[in-house]
Amino acid sequence: MTILDKFLETHILSTEEYLELLSLRENPETVKRLQDEAVRLRKQYYGDKVFTRGLIEFTNYCKNNCYYCGIRKGNHHADRYRLTCDEIMECCRSGYALGYRTFVLQGGEDPYYTDERIVEIVRSIKQEFPDCAVTLSIGEKSYESYQRFREAGADRYLLRHETADEELYRSLHPAEMKLSNRKQCLYHLKELGYQVGAGFMVGPPGQTMQHLAEDLYFLQELKPQMVGIGPFIPHHDTTYANEPAGSVELTLFLLSILRIMLPRVLLPATTALGTLDPLGREKGLAVGANVVMPNLSPVKNRKKYELYDNKICTGEEAAECRGCLSRRVERAGYRLVEERGDAVS
Ligand code: 5AD
Ligand code: FES
Repeated sequence: MTILDKFLETHILSTEEYLELLSLRENPETVKRLQDEAVRLRKQYYGDKVFTRGLIEFTNYCKNNCYYCGIRKGNHHADRYRLTCDEIMECCRSGYALGYRTFVLQGGEDPYYTDERIVEIVRSIKQEFPDCAVTLSIGEKSYESYQRFREAGADRYLLRHETADEELYRSLHPAEMKLSNRKQCLYHLKELGYQVGAGFMVGPPGQTMQHLAEDLYFLQELKPQMVGIGPFIPHHDTTYANEPAGSVELTLFLLSILRIMLPRVLLPATTALGTLDPLGREKGLAVGANVVMPNLSPVKNRKKYELYDNKICTGEEAAECRGCLSRRVERAGYRLVEERGDAVS
């Protein structure tokens, strides 16, 4: 049996076997068969539905200094901002009217937002919009903090593991950041009953196929409900300003593998994919993705949440991403729905 047949039959491989599967990434028949199976599974579990998440980038202050990221602490050119609880609520109100039933609060690791402040924000949203899910994406915290947010009503948590490989993790982050802590956080979040999202970038400096095989194996073990992956894109004020961006094709190939490995997973067609290729998000939907995350942040702040260069949806024309995305999703043969969009059980 070939490695492709084995994967299509069992949906489970070892790290070495994932490496072998990845070596077939330029073989058109392999690409096609993975894509077909991914689409079959996504239709079996989710039909033609695409879920939306209203993304609210509420602070671009960050105490970390990840070498790839435009809002890292060491970037003194970044124009910093924070949203108040009222401003966040306003984003939710306009989002609710547009049909969003999930709000994602994403920010840098900003100590200004103490546990108390986060709890207040989560409570306010859940109180005014009890039929909506709240997702936090605010980095590494203690078990106790995660527990407090959960008790305040947070439903989901996004924390990309970034890479499952110790050595690559160390090369992408300053010494104070530890992969072991990040993995620990993900297991804590699971234990607390969050729907958990992990994920990684495709093509940051130094990443090899072996690293990606390790990422796939790690996700197979963790079994998160959500996986966010997108191509690395250089940012002009970072260590990696002159490094090449990741590959759209490889990202699409990995999306189809992830859909097969975790058939019920919530898999976004990411903004980074849409930034590198004008039809990137549509292509993501065509290989198994079933989530899009349009921007709900106030237009005046959008350009400032610049993780990488040329990020889309940051101009005046993007004041209403939902309409734009809804048309794109329909052109891809799918349908944007007004639901919380939990993973099917
Ligand atoms: N290119 C692509 N993705 C990036 N991220 C951070 N910086 C970049 C970049 N330069 C991703 C990280 C992070 C998520 C919020 O954005 O994976 O977890
Ligand atoms: Fe934001 Fe198209 S999705 S402008």
